[in-house]
Amino acid sequence: MATNALVTLVRYASPHKGKIVFASLCSIFNKIYDIVPEILIGISIDVIVNQQHSIIAKTIGILDPFKQLYIVGAVTAVFWIFESIFEYLYSITWRGLAQEIQSNVRIKTYATLQSLDLQYFENKTTGTLLNTLQDDIHQLEQFLSQGPNEIIQLIVNIVVMGYIFFYLSPTLAFFTLLPIPFVIMIAYYFQHRLADLYEAVRQAAANLASHITYRLQGISTIKSYTTEFYEIERLRVESARYQEANCRANRVNAQYIPTVRMAIMVGFIMALVLGGTYALQGIIPINWYAALVFLTQRFLWPFTTLTTITDMYERALACAKRILGILHTPNEIRSGSEPLDAKVTGAIGVHNVSFAYANGMHVFNNLSLEIPAKKTVAFVGSTGSGKSTIIKLLLRFYDSISGSITVDNKDIKDLQLNDLRSAIGLVSQDVYIVEGTIADNIAYGTFDASRDAIVQAAKMAQAHNFIMQLPNGYDTRVEEHGKTLSGGQRQRLSIARAILKKSPILIFDEATSAVDNETEAAIQQSLLALKPYHTIIIIAHRLSTVRNADIIFVLDKGEIVESDNHENLIKRHGAYAHLWSTQF
Ligand SMILES: Nc1ncnc2c1ncn2[C@@H]1O[C@H](COP(=O)(O)OP(=O)(O)OP(=O)(O)O)[C@@H](O)[C@H]1O
Ligand SMILES: [Mg+2]
Repeated sequence: MATNALVTLVRYASPHKGKIVFASLCSIFNKIYDIVPEILIGISIDVIVNQQHSIIAKTIGILDPFKQLYIVGAVTAVFWIFESIFEYLYSITWRGLAQEIQSNVRIKTYATLQSLDLQYFENKTTGTLLNTLQDDIHQLEQFLSQGPNEIIQLIVNIVVMGYIFFYLSPTLAFFTLLPIPFVIMIAYYFQHRLADLYEAVRQAAANLASHITYRLQGISTIKSYTTEFYEIERLRVESARYQEANCRANRVNAQYIPTVRMAIMVGFIMALVLGGTYALQGIIPINWYAALVFLTQRFLWPFTTLTTITDMYERALACAKRILGILHTPNEIRSGSEPLDAKVTGAIGVHNVSFAYANGMHVFNNLSLEIPAKKTVAFVGSTGSGKSTIIKLLLRFYDSISGSITVDNKDIKDLQLNDLRSAIGLVSQDVYIVEGTIADNIAYGTFDASRDAIVQAAKMAQAHNFIMQLPNGYDTRVEEHGKTLSGGQRQRLSIARAILKKSPILIFDEATSAVDNETEAAIQQSLLALKPYHTIIIIAHRLSTVRNADIIFVLDKGEIVESDNHENLIKRHGAYAHLWSTQF
């Protein structure tokens, strides 16, 4: 059901229940103290018209009408002050709650997002996700800081005013309140029409955001291909879509208040004319007539806020649904329960593994291979042959369709995911540089590493020299994506990070593709020192990188066509020997 998305989400954020009760009470009292002065208008007219026979005279016994007016004035002041106090209280409490919920929802959504399978991100753009994390949660906060209060006050309004009206004159009440069902029906009708329109607005906003985010990331390509004008035109199209969607929603929204106003007019005229008639006929006292006309305004007018409320509600609901969409996304890849021994030897077995990506791209068909513990192996093969995919399967970024992969003879699907991934140090093809210093980047994931250990790892990755040439050495700040570093420098930071992690299994996927031959040779020398303690997997196009591996697997279209060490493969005059001869 529609309402549930918001309620579910608020529950999910588990705000302080006591605060909700307190805020609701403040809203209720504020509204009550807001209504009372209107009644005091009736009482003051009563004082003026009836003087010694007024209600005040009858109840308190003060006969002087001037003194009676002072009393009315004093009471009004007291109520007014209380109204203000409660307004302040509900205002800060609801807003505080909205902030609390927004923050909790954001953290939980981000946490969920982070734990989702890589596959989830394949058909989502960064912009769309960013939009949900930022704008949707912001909309939710907007609604929560005002919506509940408005709704509560509207209800209090109906109950208290309804009671007063019926108490004073049931017939008059009936006619004055007659428009209310129509107002509610109108609101209901508009709410439904607006729901779809707002969904379209949000969708357009998400598209726009993702369009812009993506373009900003590719700014250097845009400049070098001088496609600025083309991109501006494309943005114009997206922006126009957003504008149109908003205009459509606004047009419908703008019809609402005038429609409701017409309905309210009927109620007001009823109070004015019918109430006046009753007053003329002496059915209701003149002072009540005056109070009633004021009260009718007071009573019916808040119904126009139904639009703002339904408006905000619709937006918030659409946002809540999108947020829940993330929160309720099931993960295909579930952690196993078996722990992985701290002393992992790092023997890896791939047994009859078949795998295809979700888009139908078939990569492996019954792939089998063995990587002995503490050996260095390499994968070579043409681009797109599936080298990186093996690594993704080993890390369980994706699960194989059939067959199994084992680490130390344990099926990785049975292992605790954290244990498995901690056992693997990956230098992936796309280097991720975090904001912070050079040292922070190397220690990313090994946060407790000492400065000595960091320097040691950097030296092994041949990064120490270039780091020392930076203005602040290890404390030099690097920006988002490491824009201020060269490709080879980024790669070496990433290698140092993996070395520092000291995982039993080390994987270098095209880790040295961007560094010069000399530096690469030096890195290989350093890796020799690690060799006895780690199972090392190297993926490279440049065959000099893999030459020293114990086993080289030659991959072609997801199949292993050859596997042996360098010398033997050369002697075989097969695919590897052919590759070697073309490179050297
Ligand atoms: N996320 C994905 N969704 C769908 N298909 C993919 C995905 N990632 C890779 N592929 C496809 O799977 C095949 C194997 O890709 P993989 O990245 O394993 O190749 P690779 O051997 O590492 O190539 P390279 O040497 O260029 O890095 C390719 O045809 C690629 O297009
Ligand atoms: Mg690859």
